[in-house]
Amino acid sequence: MDNSSRRQVMNELINLSDQDMTESEFIGMLEESMIPLQQFFTYYKCAIMEIETKFKVLNEQFSINGESNPIEFIQSRIKSYSSIFRKVMKKNIPNTLEALEENIHDIAGVRVICSFIQDIYRLADCFLSQDDITLIERKDYIESPKPNGYRSLHLIVAVPIFLENEKRMVKVEVQLRTIAMDFWASLEHKLRYKKDLPQEKLDLLASDMKKCADESASWDMRMQSIKNMIE
Ligand code: GTP
Ligand code: MG
Repeated sequence: MDNSSRRQVMNELINLSDQDMTESEFIGMLEESMIPLQQFFTYYKCAIMEIETKFKVLNEQFSINGESNPIEFIQSRIKSYSSIFRKVMKKNIPNTLEALEENIHDIAGVRVICSFIQDIYRLADCFLSQDDITLIERKDYIESPKPNGYRSLHLIVAVPIFLENEKRMVKVEVQLRTIAMDFWASLEHKLRYKKDLPQEKLDLLASDMKKCADESASWDMRMQSIKNMIE
């Protein structure tokens, strides 16, 4: 939008509001109403920093013990407005920030990618035993994969963040998976949004993906036992 059309929109908005407002008063009003929203997402950004640091510390500590680093990489994200909107619609969540905070557990997401399955459980155990982490829900899709073949260990936790005058507990979804599980999940994610193929073709691809999931799970197990034998 160029400056003159932006000004036009602004003028229209000012005209829309009944009040006799100057442009700067109007901008001030918009900015003020943004503050609670910005603050809301800042809590989640801070919680992500806390969780990432915890895993980075564990990764360092494991490597001091003469072992190789268990973590290959960490990916974090804040849920997009449109995904939050879809979930609000799907789950019929009331339209307030408090209701979002209460009902959506994956506004902050941290994904920890390891080479080996045993490292996933070891990291998860160490992480969960820390006294400032509260476990809300644990779903082990490695032990019990989803019917489509999806595997990962999911933890919904609450972590405290320390602000100027308060301590807040913030929920984060942590997903731990191997490189192979991550490779599979990202391809399956693409397939999920591919709705323009005929159903027959989609079914065929889904059954192929299930086979890939089972084969890569057996690879993960073989690689783990080879590593155990080497050590
Ligand atoms: P939702 O987030 O509403 O799905 O809640 P849920 O209770 O079903 O959580 P679940 O643990 O099943 O999934 C949470 C997240 O895990 C998703 O947002 C994805 O990131 C990931 N996930 C779960 N199942 C699949 C799957 O079949 N394929 C892929 N690619 N990712 C999945
Ligand atoms: Mg789901």
